[in-house]
Amino acid sequence: MTTLAIHGGTPVRTAPIGQWPVWGAEEEQMLLQALRSGTWGSIDGTFVKQLEAEFAEFQGARHGVACVNGTMALSVALKALDIGPGDEVLVPPYTFIATASAALMIGAIPVFVDIDRETLLIDPAGIDAAVTSRTKAVIPVHHGGSPADMDGIMEAAGRHGLRVVEDAAQAHGAAWRGRPVGAIGDVGTFSFQSSKPLNAGEGGMMLTNDDELDELLWSYRNVGRRRGGEWYEHVRLGWNLRMTEFQAALLLAQMRRLPAQQAHRTQNAAYLTERLEQIPGVVRVKVPDGVTAHSWYTYHWRWLGHATGGLHKMEFARALRAEGIPIHHGYVPINHNEALRAEIRRLGGAEPVACPNAERADAEEILDFPMSILMGTHEDLDDVVRAVEKVARAKA
Ligand SMILES: Cc1ncc(COP(=O)(O)O)c(C=O)c1O
Repeated sequence: MTTLAIHGGTPVRTAPIGQWPVWGAEEEQMLLQALRSGTWGSIDGTFVKQLEAEFAEFQGARHGVACVNGTMALSVALKALDIGPGDEVLVPPYTFIATASAALMIGAIPVFVDIDRETLLIDPAGIDAAVTSRTKAVIPVHHGGSPADMDGIMEAAGRHGLRVVEDAAQAHGAAWRGRPVGAIGDVGTFSFQSSKPLNAGEGGMMLTNDDELDELLWSYRNVGRRRGGEWYEHVRLGWNLRMTEFQAALLLAQMRRLPAQQAHRTQNAAYLTERLEQIPGVVRVKVPDGVTAHSWYTYHWRWLGHATGGLHKMEFARALRAEGIPIHHGYVPINHNEALRAEIRRLGGAEPVACPNAERADAEEILDFPMSILMGTHEDLDDVVRAVEKVARAKA
């Protein structure tokens, strides 16, 4: 049997796979244009306004309000929906901490609704049992770029009078039954942090179809001012969360690349799935039937070979990394995060419930490739598959 690289064997791969970020003359030109305009802030500038309009149109929303990051976009979205101390917000546990901490930072309590085991996305069937008289909103996460079941979520939200904030931090260009995500619920939020499919180092966006919410999002992002008001006219309390013109200039150039990059990743994801599924123990993560576009931010898959004598997923990940393949061991369910739990306790919220599907995903099954893998060529993916095959044959 071939020796694993982790045990001193020859690694399958030594060259990096895929490039991220991708930039060229367009980005340089846009950044120089922002610089030379001498207007580097969005108040008098044109780039942020143009980005808001273009990104909103791209995602099928009437309004876009840019901000500093996806975390604050979530807090502002909740604030604009009049959610605050004592209110409960339903969130999935298998996500980045910001989905829940954004609620806590404005005094609202996250309540966890487990994910579907097959899709890793919030299971709308869990919503009824989690709702109390204090529940005000649900935050479905389009995890890894796969839209959550927006039919089930909108139905459940309608039944219980809940507002819906879509956490689309990872899901630029994704769509549910032909409708781009981010404009299906009341507000949709996006991140432009370095690893995301649309990247300016940092940045965020809030989308809505509702004129009043648009005004509130704008105002909270803009120190409580009102559109058309005086500079020192603050009609409510807010934050300064404005994006700079440089970020928007870069994002406008990056947006031109996004459709082709997304198509490339979609094609690569299909190729990878087809090849990986031939390896015993490797099982795909299901994409819900209603997903008509996936951003393929991350490529999650299940390693079930441990049950039949193969490596544990954590050992698998270490061995694969030694073979030269970047791999993560999925997300850590945030219902167990001690900082979150302590704050929930301090605010008098209910102790977070167990979420067995998320816990099993983390403890036993899920591994994920970063987006850069899907930016590569078929030859790059063949190396990925060779390395997975090699590690899958190893015994625990
Ligand atoms: C699901 C999810 N929600 C929220 C965020 C927060 O975005 P940001 O890092 O821009 O604050 C991220 C990104 O890191 C994320 O992946």
